[in-house]
Amino acid sequence: MKHYFDPDGIEFTADCQESVDTFNSLVDAYMGFRPETGNILKSLLKADPDMPMALCAKGYFAKLIGSASHSERALAIAEKLKTLLNTCNANSREQLHGQALDQWSRGNLDLATEVWEQILVRWPLDGMALKLSHFTHFYSGDGRRTRDSIARVLPLWEKDHRNYGYLLGMYSFGLEEAGEYLEAERYGRMAVERNPSDSWSVHAVAHVMEMTGRHVEGIEWIEALKPHWSRANNFRFHLYWHQCLFHIERGEFNEVLSIYDEQIVSDIESEFYLDMCNATSLLWRLEMCGIDIGDRWGRLAQISKGHINDTDLIFTSLHYLMALISGNDEEGVERMMQTIGNWAIDGSTQGKVTAEVGISLAEGLFHARNKQYRLAMEKIESVRYTMDLIGGSKAQRDVFHMIMLDAAKASGNHYKARALFTDRISHKAHSNWSWQGYSEILSAMGWEKMAAEATQSAMAIRADS
Ligand SMILES: [Fe+2]
Repeated sequence: MKHYFDPDGIEFTADCQESVDTFNSLVDAYMGFRPETGNILKSLLKADPDMPMALCAKGYFAKLIGSASHSERALAIAEKLKTLLNTCNANSREQLHGQALDQWSRGNLDLATEVWEQILVRWPLDGMALKLSHFTHFYSGDGRRTRDSIARVLPLWEKDHRNYGYLLGMYSFGLEEAGEYLEAERYGRMAVERNPSDSWSVHAVAHVMEMTGRHVEGIEWIEALKPHWSRANNFRFHLYWHQCLFHIERGEFNEVLSIYDEQIVSDIESEFYLDMCNATSLLWRLEMCGIDIGDRWGRLAQISKGHINDTDLIFTSLHYLMALISGNDEEGVERMMQTIGNWAIDGSTQGKVTAEVGISLAEGLFHARNKQYRLAMEKIESVRYTMDLIGGSKAQRDVFHMIMLDAAKASGNHYKARALFTDRISHKAHSNWSWQGYSEILSAMGWEKMAAEATQSAMAIRADS
């Protein structure tokens, strides 16, 4: 094994220069959510099975899938990598990557993130470390960390670097999650202008439109760029999910059901966690809008059965739980609640989050589906201001806030429901669903004039207004 350099001056231990070039293609494909990413890695490992960064990437990608079986594989790869790093004269950056994989595969997501940040301080052009830390900052639920991780390196990249556009998009997303919507849109649009196939950047701008209530513009944005982003890997289904959120607020439920059937669940048997998050959260939202979703929960519950023992991301597990609860799989729910209970005391990064907020959210979902509305509301409200810890985006987490409000409305405690809907519409004034719920509560309390005004506000947002 010798040492070679990539065009950014980053050193790799490998059999030949070609391996380093292929590794860079791998990073490019990963940043672009391109479907050939897995095949590039396979061919690299075939050609250079002992290249430390190739093996490390194999472990990282196993963790990114986010299921128990893949996590077990990642743990075995981390062990193998340790041995390899000790025998192949690997450099200090590669050693750090080995540590990051080791920490991540043992559940220490926070420590893995620290290692990637350590790498980036010294090697700010390490695209793999940057993209992975972007992912884990996202699952720390802190938009400022997501934003600043990119801000620290962005000026150090040449503007004509082949992956500079991806950084603009990542920065855009961090800004959006930090609530800086104007800047987020500016960076996101710059990224898409460079490369309209950059689905993460298209997505970042869609988030801005979601948060600022620009439903029509959001649909147009996603539709216009569809020929580009629809070539992405399964991440493309998340863009369809965003399109559905806009349609829901416009009351275009037939469109949502069509997109659900034709796109969102078209590869739902894949092991990719995000596919199930998209599907379950969409169905629950539709039901809260009073839409009959037929027997669609059954298939999702069946798939979720295979993920009862997952302990990767509590955000994901809560979505599997939604399906098990809604599919009336009592045994599955019981087992999953046990997994979540054990997870909360295992000392891992996500275990701590599970203890702090995950259990309450899980119980809230359970009570909501079992029509124990007061309990559901109380459980979710108890973690209302701390639930960001589960990660995911603000748009994704909103489903839990909506479930809390829905439960409050059904609980019979009109005063409480009115209070919660009143504060909701102050920061979600563009939400048809929120105005509609507010109107129902006001009407139930005999505040007919205000209820009528709230209905008007709801109707003004709908497509059929
Ligand atoms: Fe998103």
